[in-house]
Amino acid sequence: METWNRWIASAILAMGTILPSSAQELATIPLPPMGWSSWNSFSNTVNSANVVEQAKAIHESELQKAGYVYVNIDEGWWLGDRDQQGNIVVDAKSWPAIEPGERDGDMSNIVRYIHSLGLKAGIYTDAGKDGCSTYPDIGPAYFHTGSEGHYEEDFLRFAEWGFDYVKVDWCGGYKENLDPAVQYAEIARAIARAEAKTGHKLYYSICDWGKQSPSTWGAGIGGASQAIWRTGGDIVAPVVVGGPHTERKASFEAMLRNFDANYHPEAEHTGFYNDPDMMVLGMPGLNASENKLHMSLWAMAAAPLLIGADVTKLDANTLADFTNSDVIAIDQDAAGLQAVKVGENGPGLEIWSKFLARSGERAVLLLNRTYFPAPMHMDWKDLGLSGDHAEVKDVWSGDPAVAVNGHYEATVPAHDGILLRIKSSEAPVVKHYTPVSQSNRMSGAETHFVHLAQTGSGWSQIKISYRNASPQGAVVDLHTNDHGGTRVAMPPTGNATRSVWIQVQLDQPGNENRMVFSNSGRASILSLDVY
Ligand code: GAL
Repeated sequence: METWNRWIASAILAMGTILPSSAQELATIPLPPMGWSSWNSFSNTVNSANVVEQAKAIHESELQKAGYVYVNIDEGWWLGDRDQQGNIVVDAKSWPAIEPGERDGDMSNIVRYIHSLGLKAGIYTDAGKDGCSTYPDIGPAYFHTGSEGHYEEDFLRFAEWGFDYVKVDWCGGYKENLDPAVQYAEIARAIARAEAKTGHKLYYSICDWGKQSPSTWGAGIGGASQAIWRTGGDIVAPVVVGGPHTERKASFEAMLRNFDANYHPEAEHTGFYNDPDMMVLGMPGLNASENKLHMSLWAMAAAPLLIGADVTKLDANTLADFTNSDVIAIDQDAAGLQAVKVGENGPGLEIWSKFLARSGERAVLLLNRTYFPAPMHMDWKDLGLSGDHAEVKDVWSGDPAVAVNGHYEATVPAHDGILLRIKSSEAPVVKHYTPVSQSNRMSGAETHFVHLAQTGSGWSQIKISYRNASPQGAVVDLHTNDHGGTRVAMPPTGNATRSVWIQVQLDQPGNENRMVFSNSGRASILSLDVY
C-alpha cells in the first residue's frame, strides 16, 4: 500500500512536471529586445560619429554575441525641419556620408553601417507635433520634431531608410492632451502599412511614460505583433541646462522607482513587455553590487535590456555584468512573464519569483532595499514548487547554493540582492479547465471559464491553450473576477494548438473565480491550466 501511495504521488508529481514544459506546445513569442540607446549618455548631442563608435564597440566586445543587437538613435537626430513636401530634412553635418557614394544628410548611411556589423538600427520620433526637444537640454530647444500629421510618410521613411526599430515619445501628445491609446494605435497601423510596402519590420517602442495605463491597451495595439511600453518616467536625473554629460547620473533610488512602476504582471506576456526604461548600469552613480542588482531586476522583470551607458567606456566588470548568460537567460525566458512578489521577510526585504518556461524552474530574487545586511529566507511552497530536493544555483557566483528541505536562507547585503535559479518540481495542484460557454470565430465572441479554484492572494500562472489559424495575431480582452481588464495577444498557430502564459489573480474564496475572454475574434480558446 505504502509503495502504491508513493507511486501515485510520484505519478502526480510527474504529471505536474510534464504539463507545463512541453516546450513544443508554446507559441513562439518575440523576446524582450536587447541593445543600446543613445539617450542616457549622449542626450541630444547624438550624431553619426558617436553612433559609429558605439556600434563598433558593441561589435568588438562580447556584447553583440551576448544578444545586444539594437543600436537605437534617440532624440536629437532631427532638428524639426521639413521640406516643402513635408519630408524630414536631416542635418548633413551630423549625419554625413560614411562610405564613398553616399549622400550627406541621409539616415540610411548610418543604418547601412550598423547593418554591416550584423546589428540592427533604431530611430525615434514623437506622437505629437512637437517632440521632447522643445525642452532645452545640452543643446538648444527645437520645435516640430514630432510626427503628428505625418504618420504615414514618417514611418514609411524610417522603414525605407532601413531602420528596424522605432521609439515613439509622448512630449507633443502630452502637450496637446491627446489620447495615447488612440494615437499609438494609429501609429501602429501606419507602421504596419510601412512594413507592408517595404517588407521591412519596425519593432514598436511606445514611450508615454505609463500615461493612461499602456499596460491595459498596449498588447496588440493597432495590430502590432510585438511591442514594449514605458511604464514610468525617465531613469536618468534631468540634465542641468547647459551642463556637461557628467550631470547624467544613475541613482539606486531611480533604478528601484522605475522597477516598481513597471510592476504590471497582468499585462506582460506573448511578446508584449513593460519597459522600465533604458538601463543605467555602468553609468556614474551606481557601485559594483548595485550594477549587478540592476541587471538582476531588469532580468526578473523580463524587461528590454537596452544599455544606456557609453559602451566605449565600460570596464571589464561591467561588461561581464551585461553579458552574464545565466542572467540574460532569465530575461529572455520563452514564457515571457515578469517576476511577481511572493513574500516579504520584513520592510524592504522582498522575495520575487519569475515563472520560467521549463517545468519546475523559477528565478528568485531576494531583494534587500535597506541600508543593513539582513537574514532572508524562503520556502519552495512560496514559489508554487514542491519537493524537498531542488537544484539551487546562485546565478552571479555560479555556485550551487545550499538548500534544505524545501527551504533556503542567506544573509543578503545592504542595497543588494541574491539571484537564484531553482530547479524542483511543480506543486501537484495543476488544474485544468475547459470553457463553459464559447462562440468562436466571431468578432465579439466570448469564452467563459467559471468556478476556478482560488489559488491564494497572489498571482497564478495560467497556460492558455488556443488555436489561431489566421496569419495574424489575435488580441483578446480578459476580465478576471472584478479586476480591471487587460489584453492577451495570441500569435498565429496554423492548424496546431499552441499555448501562451499569462498571470492573473484568482483571489475569490472557494471555486468562485471566473475568467472571461471577450472580443476573441480569430482565436479559439480551448483550455486553461492553472498553476
Ligand atoms: C523622454 C523619454 C526619454 C528620452 C527623452 C528624449 O520623454 O522618456 O527616454 O527619449 O524623452 O527627450
